[in-house]
Amino acid sequence: MKNKNKAIWGTRFNKATSKIFENIGSSIDIDKRLFEEDIFGSIIHTQMLMKQKIISRKKGIKIIKGLKRIRKQIRENKFVFKKKYEDIHLNIEKKLFEIIGNDAGYLHIARSRNDQVITDFKLWIKKASVIINKNLNDLIKSFLKKAENNVQTIMPGFTHLKNAQAISFAHYLLAYVEMFKRDKKRFTNNIRYIDECPLGTGALAGTSYKIDRNYTSKKLGFKKPTNNSIDSVADRDFALDFLSSASICAIHISRFAEELIIWNSDIFKIIKLDDKMLTGSSIMPQKKNPDPAELIRGRAGKNFGSLQAMLTTMKGLPLSYYKDMQEDKALVFNSYDTILESIIITKELIKNLKPNKERMFALASEGYTTATDFADYLVQNNNLSFRDAYKIAANLVNYAERKKVRLDQLNFYEVKKIKNDLNKDVMKVFHVKYSVNSKKSYGGTSTKNIRKMILKLKREFK
Ligand code: ARG
Repeated sequence: MKNKNKAIWGTRFNKATSKIFENIGSSIDIDKRLFEEDIFGSIIHTQMLMKQKIISRKKGIKIIKGLKRIRKQIRENKFVFKKKYEDIHLNIEKKLFEIIGNDAGYLHIARSRNDQVITDFKLWIKKASVIINKNLNDLIKSFLKKAENNVQTIMPGFTHLKNAQAISFAHYLLAYVEMFKRDKKRFTNNIRYIDECPLGTGALAGTSYKIDRNYTSKKLGFKKPTNNSIDSVADRDFALDFLSSASICAIHISRFAEELIIWNSDIFKIIKLDDKMLTGSSIMPQKKNPDPAELIRGRAGKNFGSLQAMLTTMKGLPLSYYKDMQEDKALVFNSYDTILESIIITKELIKNLKPNKERMFALASEGYTTATDFADYLVQNNNLSFRDAYKIAANLVNYAERKKVRLDQLNFYEVKKIKNDLNKDVMKVFHVKYSVNSKKSYGGTSTKNIRKMILKLKREFK
């Protein structure tokens, strides 16, 4: 085999890798996405080798120049990635040999692909987490905007998908803001955990060269070098953290999507989605289907699948590096692409959604949603225990149900039949608007609360 065509590690090999293994063993189609991080890492590594006088300045400068040329080629789409060179690290190293000749061989002093790949990967996940957070920020702002315009929009709040108590549509939207805020915190925390630089831990044992790990760590934007060389190359917790955060975020998005699908149904009809967010049927001319919402609901499965696959890959894997872990990139990239798209589509959905205010209000008044308000009134004005008040309110609901009317359609004399020592002002509690505004406890659905909360959140998400 000619030297030129040999793998970087091919010296002791007399035969080329079988084609079939080359196909599954090569990760270049996937990990080429790490090229920016890989070259950045190599440049900093070279600078450190120069600073520590492990390689000469002349060689170092030559290597860095070559790396920058490669970076330019890749950025301009002029680089030909080769499967037979396995992965991004070796594709770049091989090209460096082509460009600068044998001095390229000095680049890999005091490092291994094992520490190199996770340095790249950690840098990439940091960058990806920042992008996700930026998009979550935009998403939160869209929710706040919709909430601002719907403080007075009253809708039925559900438990068990049965009308429970009336709430403000804005309050419902702010619930999602809280979820997305937690998602942001999770990604932010991950960035903190990830902040230890593995570069310089070598294959697994560390290195005998007098390297400066503090220098490379700082230059690459990490807080500190990792403590243990074995753990450094064996660790994929940071990938699991990312996949888990993406999965939880996907849960939130899928719950929202599901609600939109239900509410947009012909039975509920409490929201209307713009035509932009709907697609037609090939057979039924009348149909307008909420496909984008269904897609993001379904795609949560891809996020969970990636997490599950990664957990399974890591389970029981001895220390330290094994090729099993090469699969981590495909899983993380896939989960990232999926969640980012889902966040962006959710943003479009919220922008292109109109509540059907009249119908929301009408449904909120159905299902005796103010029965609890009546019980609360009795506790607060007639000195009853909640359990006694509950029974009286239940009797009133039974009466209204028999008469087939809503609670706010009863008159004072009918209510008095259920409990005779009532003041006339009890009648206000049967109206959903009163009900909503009476929930003044911190975090409750009253208009005043919501207005305050929106102001607070708007300051937080400028
Ligand atoms: N492409 C490899 C991966 O992502 C790089 C590390 C290879 N290390 C090794 N010992 N074969 O896992």
